[in-house]
Amino acid sequence: MKTRRILVTGAGSGIGAELSQLLAAAGHEIIATDSDGAAALRVADAIITLGGKAAGIALDVTQPAAIDTVVRAAGSVDVLVNNAGLQHVARLEDFPADRWALLVAVMLTGAANMARAVLPGMRARNFGRIINLGSIHSLVASPYKSAYIAAKHGLIGLSKTLALENGDVDVTINTICPAYVRTPLVDKQIEAQAREHNLSIERVISEIMLRPMPKKAFVTVEEIAALATYLISDGARNVTAQAIAIDGGWTAQ
Ligand SMILES: NC(=O)c1ccc[n+]([C@@H]2O[C@H](COP(=O)([O-])OP(=O)(O)OC[C@H]3O[C@@H](n4cnc5c(N)ncnc54)[C@H](O)[C@@H]3O)[C@@H](O)[C@H]2O)c1
Repeated sequence: MKTRRILVTGAGSGIGAELSQLLAAAGHEIIATDSDGAAALRVADAIITLGGKAAGIALDVTQPAAIDTVVRAAGSVDVLVNNAGLQHVARLEDFPADRWALLVAVMLTGAANMARAVLPGMRARNFGRIINLGSIHSLVASPYKSAYIAAKHGLIGLSKTLALENGDVDVTINTICPAYVRTPLVDKQIEAQAREHNLSIERVISEIMLRPMPKKAFVTVEEIAALATYLISDGARNVTAQAIAIDGGWTAQ
């Protein structure tokens, strides 16, 4: 397998951090970016300590000028992983408008602006892979997550459009749609549900979080890395515009 230069957004925590480490362990070079620049640097340092290749750079994906600067400084980017994200849980009528706009700015417009910055280089080199971290909530809804779900559904439309615009070169754009992965983002939701319903953490996990998943297990970042590894391979050159669920059977119901 060829090694690639992979830029990951939101690489300072959770899925982005572990995915960066797993892809680096497979020999790929990682440009770990995050709005928390210190966290991005920590992830890059950990990779380098283990003998891998990485750089850590501060990047807030809501800032188009910063995106252009970082992508220019990064040089060639073979693979972009649009992973940066955040959650806010509230009924639409109670959802602060600025928070709603921020979620869409990070997870949808930020992904589009990242793609806009890397695509000219990918097209010129006739190779590129864009992997969006969608969610099971790119495919189905749950109450109280309107901004997240609108942004994550929007990512699929963005991926399909970019796939059509770049069908003439070996560039693919896909969206990985995992159900729950145990990260800080999900731990905060588990704690909030436990407080709200006066339930133990264990009961929130089994009765609320894993209830819609027939497999009854959290998705791991290893599983996401395995799919990403396939998508960046030459063998996946015709897999484009797809939303690929890792959902333990959730969407079969
Ligand atoms: N954890 C899950 O269950 C789950 C499931 C499906 C999809 N996802 C998606 O995976 C991605 C990563 O989630 P996670 O669970 O690892 O969350 P996390 O909170 O652990 O990490 C998210 C990272 O994104 C960064 N970030 C936030 N706003 C940013 C911005 N404006 N610019 C750059 N970086 C920013 C944060 O600093 C953080 O390091 C998100 O897009 C999320 O929607 C998560």
